[in-house]
Amino acid sequence: MTQNAQVVTIDGGLGSFVQGADDASLLQAALRCGIGLPYECSSGGCGSCRIQVLEGEAESLWPDAPGLSPRDRRKGLQLACQTRALGDLTIKVSTDAACAPKVPPKVFGVVLESARDLTRDIREFRFRASAPAVFLPGQYAILQLEDGQRRCYSMSNLANDEGIWEFQIKRVPGGKASNALFDMAPGGRLRVDGPYGLAHLVAESARPVVCIAGGSGLAPMISIARALGADPERQVDFFYGGRTAADVCGADHLSALPGWQRGLRFHPVVSSPDDPLSAGWTGETGFVHEVVARGIGDRLADSEIYFAGPPPMAEALQRLLMIELKVPFGQIHFDRFF
Ligand code: FES
Repeated sequence: MTQNAQVVTIDGGLGSFVQGADDASLLQAALRCGIGLPYECSSGGCGSCRIQVLEGEAESLWPDAPGLSPRDRRKGLQLACQTRALGDLTIKVSTDAACAPKVPPKVFGVVLESARDLTRDIREFRFRASAPAVFLPGQYAILQLEDGQRRCYSMSNLANDEGIWEFQIKRVPGGKASNALFDMAPGGRLRVDGPYGLAHLVAESARPVVCIAGGSGLAPMISIARALGADPERQVDFFYGGRTAADVCGADHLSALPGWQRGLRFHPVVSSPDDPLSAGWTGETGFVHEVVARGIGDRLADSEIYFAGPPPMAEALQRLLMIELKVPFGQIHFDRFF
């Protein structure tokens, strides 16, 4: 092995993989080699990629990552998505075949072709790579900015031979990465690391589908709806929650699909109907999880449910689906982002 390639052995005869010079972390290296390391956010927040280094030297890319509790740290655990091997390693982790990537992630360059505003703070970016874009509906990629920042954003389009990667990104006040992206002009370049994410479309399920999005959680839900909406008869209920009427988006994308207003139904929801930006709104109001429960609560246990959005929305939906309605866990699909 060269100096830049470390062999990582998983204790208990569970396999091994190589961390190459381009691999940002043990997680990326494992997934690139087809190993099913459990993970969700790829960004140090969720804690689902905890490992223990048994032998060898490793560096932590984010020693204070919130994905590790004080107890985890006392036990000497580390996050695979925030750790790099400095030499050959032996690690302890439970692998899971269900986490093995269907499309192994890669790092590649893209060029910004165009961008357009969807709302006052969500912009759709269209990048082009030199090779076909291969990913599953609902997956995300890590955008690597010139200054070294890495941020996870979901794709809103579908895999394609033209190498097009589209993202719908919300501008975060004071957020360095989103502001850098909003400042980017066509022709700008960056590197993409992906695809990632296990909350992708389960294509083999024939159950009705419910997509629930808030904020920039729109992108992965649009991708899933695009995959399903090509079949006019496929039952898809798509909920989008915005704070004001001016924040609601998604209808443009969905209305272009053959299933629009046949199998595919759009349910926009506004949580601040008294805000001046909601003037004239006559649609549903409240929090999106409340509207979902009110509208189709009796059907959720028989549906595949996908959701993406801000943490309070995701937590409310988890409570509703898992605790109150006892929807089977295997029918609930989401990635935790932080
Ligand atoms: Fe590593 Fe979330 S903390 S995947």
